[in-house]
Amino acid sequence: MRYLTFALAKGRLAGKTMDMLRQLGVSCQEFYDPDTRRLIFTDEEKGMRFFLAKACDVPTYVEYGAADIGVVGRDTILEERRRLYEVLDLEIGKCRMCVCGPESSRELLRHRQLIRVATKYPVIAKDYFYNHRQQTVEIIKLGGSVELAPLVGLSEVIVDIVETGTTLRENGLTVLEEICPLSARMVVNQVSMKMENERIKTLIGQLRELIRQQT
Ligand code: PRP
Repeated sequence: MRYLTFALAKGRLAGKTMDMLRQLGVSCQEFYDPDTRRLIFTDEEKGMRFFLAKACDVPTYVEYGAADIGVVGRDTILEERRRLYEVLDLEIGKCRMCVCGPESSRELLRHRQLIRVATKYPVIAKDYFYNHRQQTVEIIKLGGSVELAPLVGLSEVIVDIVETGTTLRENGLTVLEEICPLSARMVVNQVSMKMENERIKTLIGQLRELIRQQT
């Protein structure tokens, strides 16, 4: 049997995804070993293997077929715009993509001023401001800790993920507009979906049932 290969976004999502798969009988002891330096984990019996990748690389592995299946946040899917099928909302890692900033920036938004927008997600930010709000802005790409930008005068607002809102609150920032809800999604390579249709469909069905039981 050919291995069904999964690319998982490193971090909390990967752990939660493996917990869900474990409930379906997938056994991958090594995955839980904190000392392992292994990059690929295998369940020989089920013919499945798993690897961890940086979130933004997961859609790339799946589009090229290096992984049949990926688990990654909707934020990354929207930002990367890869050719793949999004097949299931795993309903974990729920959060929101928002425009945030100090309260004083609300007026600048309202008047469609030419503001600067700092973000790790330039594609999402551009789509939101240009297509949805029809407002011309300057997008500044950052690699992380985006909340810093309005605090030090790099930008008037940011486009970023808000989960609990703690980071914003502790830095005197607030949600000004909500762009879209986010959560972890299962994505599938377009060729794998045809070649491994039975196995993938069965897996989707089992996961869907598990999600239904847990919500
Ligand atoms: C994410 C996001 C926010 C924070 C939101 O950052 O970019 O900074 O979490 O969570 P909260 O609403 O619960 O405070 P992450 O930890 O991924 O780090 P990064 O911004 O440096 O990439």
